[in-house]
Amino acid sequence: MAVFNFGSINIDYVYRMDRFVQPGETLSSLSLDTVLGGKGANQSVALARAGLDVRHIGRVGQSDQWAVDALREFGVNTDCVQAIDGPSGHAIIQVDTNGENAIVLHGGANQSFDANVIETLFESAKSGDWLLLQNECNSLEHVFDLAERKKLNIAFNPAPMDKAASELPLERCQVLILNEVEAAQLAIDPSQTVDGTDHAALAVALQARFPNVIIALTLGSNGATLLHDGQRTSVSSAKVDVVDTTGAGDTFVGYFLAGIINGLSTSDALERACSAGALAVTVAGATPGIPTLKAVNKFIKGTH
Ligand code: RIB
Repeated sequence: MAVFNFGSINIDYVYRMDRFVQPGETLSSLSLDTVLGGKGANQSVALARAGLDVRHIGRVGQSDQWAVDALREFGVNTDCVQAIDGPSGHAIIQVDTNGENAIVLHGGANQSFDANVIETLFESAKSGDWLLLQNECNSLEHVFDLAERKKLNIAFNPAPMDKAASELPLERCQVLILNEVEAAQLAIDPSQTVDGTDHAALAVALQARFPNVIIALTLGSNGATLLHDGQRTSVSSAKVDVVDTTGAGDTFVGYFLAGIINGLSTSDALERACSAGALAVTVAGATPGIPTLKAVNKFIKGTH
């Protein structure tokens, strides 16, 4: 069974900073690294590192073939990645001394899809395959429709969240992976709001709205909570030295979905995804920080 990941490919320009630049201020960076990133590409790498057959569907600018080569070298099938005229998606990422980040995104090629091209790119997808989505590419409504027609299982990580993403037919998803902010936006109807830090209220509201969906709620350094079959299970995150949090959420997504597809119990999938995310923050850069399955299993043994 394959996972088709319709996802962004970004060039990440990562600036190490003493602190984030403020409005009106000019501040020198300590260093600059240019690496493969994008929520889509990061999640494909995490799935591949977790041992899955992952086919990335995406687009880059003609001059960034190196990013596609890098994705392939991580074990991702890139046959459906197209090079087009115009710039690739890219991200300007400040990382401070606590490993926190502030990101400016430019959609570029990730925002260039239309319904016809989507039909072509998904030609080989078969009933029962998985579709993974984030919210950095356009035309998601077409992809949801195509998934319904082709009977694909849908896993969605609606990041970065916006109104259009919240209005997609999310009840069709098998799996939703949300952080606290995204969860608060989806929990109940838009006329009401739920405090994202009130996890019990979030859980109740999400389960009421999506009773048949497996929901993983990520809580940063506090671990994650699983909402499934009316039950609620929480896993805490191991304490690690934080170098760079960029891509940790994407690592969680890839490992969690891989666990579900490989038949792990949902709570084991959650624990493995939390450990993978914890390891990811100990290394600089999005894709460079995504750990191998061997490293994740060794880390889990060491924490028990
Ligand atoms: O989730 C991290 C990613 O967000 C970065 O790699 C950057 O490209 C942005 O898309």
